[in-house]
Amino acid sequence: MSNSKNIECLKGVILAGGLGTRLYPLTKVTSKHLLPVGNEPMVFHSIKLLIETGITDILIITSPIHIGDFVSVLGSGKDFGCEFTYRVQEEAKGIAHALESAEGFAAGGSIVVLLADNIFESSIQQLVSDYKIQKTGARVLLKEVDDPERFGVASLNGNHIDSIEEKPVQPKSNYAVVGVYCYDSTVFEIIRSIEPSSRGEYEITSVNNVYIDRGQLQYSFLQGEWVDAGTFEALVEANNLLMNRKE
Ligand code: G1P
Repeated sequence: MSNSKNIECLKGVILAGGLGTRLYPLTKVTSKHLLPVGNEPMVFHSIKLLIETGITDILIITSPIHIGDFVSVLGSGKDFGCEFTYRVQEEAKGIAHALESAEGFAAGGSIVVLLADNIFESSIQQLVSDYKIQKTGARVLLKEVDDPERFGVASLNGNHIDSIEEKPVQPKSNYAVVGVYCYDSTVFEIIRSIEPSSRGEYEITSVNNVYIDRGQLQYSFLQGEWVDAGTFEALVEANNLLMNRKE
């Protein structure tokens, strides 16, 4: 299949694994991504963002203890007007490790990957449209923030990203890498080539740095507010963001 054909058939991958320990005891029996945000379970937000861009073939990856809950809540996708596939991430070994299990689903095509705890005021349509023009390689979304040390941080050089550092103590910029990524099919070969970080995880930032080394990583800027709802304070912010948003 040619790249131009692939790019029109983008599939979506929603990463909803992890232990959610920073939200304990809310996450003692419930997945972080099924906690309420606004008037719906958190993961509905990622699903709707993908559907808004025209992506209706969606893979949900979560942990073995929560997979049954996701199937009960989401079903086949009929109620959303999309089709769900489910995969289990056996061990919580990082975002890139979870993504590796999407290889069969991607079937040689390109994918849009969302971290299900990222909540947005606006759509991700611009990123997806920009990636369709880009056609190959990878594309990330950047947002200027006051607390970059909580995120992957991009060093920009003109319209080029020089490097991305994961949660640096002394960030080189205020540009956080948002939890939405566009990848071509080489992402899986890249995931297999990276080493775990000092915290023992296969980092998505390591994957993005390989694309940078190959001169194949581009970026768009995110318009509107964004929250990574991984802490109690951020969960409140995410609720406020969605409750106050004009539909
Ligand atoms: C992850 C990524 C980080 C990114 C962030 C966005 O961090 O590792 O690069 O900036 O998501 O939400 P985590 O949420 O796993 O700490």
